[in-house]
Amino acid sequence: RPRYTGLIEKYRDRLPVHDDTRIISLGEGNTPLIRLNHIPRQLGKDVDIYVKYEGLNPTGSFKDRGMTMAVTKAVDEGAKAIICASTGNTSAAAAAYAARAGIRAFVLIPDGKIAMGKLAQALMHGAVVIQIKGNFDDGMRLVKEVADHAPVTIVNSINPNRLQGQKTAAFEIIEELGRAPDYHCLPVGNAGNITAHWMGYDEYYRDGIVGTRPRMVGYQASGSAPFVKGEMVDNPETVATAIRIGHPQSWELAWNLQKESNGWFDACSDEEILAAQKLLAQAEGVFCEPASATSVAGAMRDIQNGKIPEGSTVVCTLTGHGLKDPDTAIAQSADTKVVTVAAEMDEVRRAILDNM
Ligand code: F0G
Repeated sequence: RPRYTGLIEKYRDRLPVHDDTRIISLGEGNTPLIRLNHIPRQLGKDVDIYVKYEGLNPTGSFKDRGMTMAVTKAVDEGAKAIICASTGNTSAAAAAYAARAGIRAFVLIPDGKIAMGKLAQALMHGAVVIQIKGNFDDGMRLVKEVADHAPVTIVNSINPNRLQGQKTAAFEIIEELGRAPDYHCLPVGNAGNITAHWMGYDEYYRDGIVGTRPRMVGYQASGSAPFVKGEMVDNPETVATAIRIGHPQSWELAWNLQKESNGWFDACSDEEILAAQKLLAQAEGVFCEPASATSVAGAMRDIQNGKIPEGSTVVCTLTGHGLKDPDTAIAQSADTKVVTVAAEMDEVRRAILDNM
């Protein structure tokens, strides 16, 4: 078996690269599809729920799938610098792949409201971090404007190469299940990732590799839910900072796939999102960031109310690793106190026996 060297090499025939293209890769993709044990039992429903753990990509989120393609193409076309607006994960991936390629990355991040791990990544990989006094939507508008006036390639999901890379997650799921799931649930911000997944499922369907496509279900945070409101939101708010987006960039594409796949959009409260994050960590052993847990929070509700019927195979994408946002994780654990004792065996033993 050849060594796994990333998703471009694996899916070369299905991606816009040539034989002599220099591939910029960190071995992204090939992430685990984990079958949940506890949650279906807790729901008391006969459903198979799998989580696609995208937090195990090299920089800890699904963005690496898109970034390997976007940076490979940018370098191929002679770019010396890339730029993005980001709630944190795109900037972390852009910074890492730019470092790998030996080019510059400029990242625009919202003032505050970015998880600590993501900021650490952008800084550590040597990106130029430009913090703007505004939110993601302001940053995105500025990136589009400045790219017309400076020699930089945009690597946000409006760059079509990003979606090409990200569609490979659907290929992996089909290959692992031997079929398409009945439902695929994702957290939605700009709606680039749900669009990319649909492209992947549709590609295998059209090529006759599978006979069905899943219904695509997009969940947003209640305070940042333009697809649920049916209009743009000007002051998005949510604890799930990764999806604190009010003006999604893939608006039309997402509405189209919702119709074509016979799917739907819905919203989850911050409380539901945090509860799902904690449940995944404590009952399944899977640590994802808050935004990622939105897919499971929404799926649990729609399985419970029967919108997703028994007998279904459901895949939920966990978009980013829990370590991205240590502050929220620690705040979530406020009731599980750290036990402090003297450095003596008796005290450690007592701490064990008291907490069995
Ligand atoms: N989950 C996580 C962890 C994200 O970082 C993002 C987007 C999404 C879900 C939503 O994906 O935008 O394709 O619908 N993060 C972007 C960023 C905006 O800048 O890192 P989408």
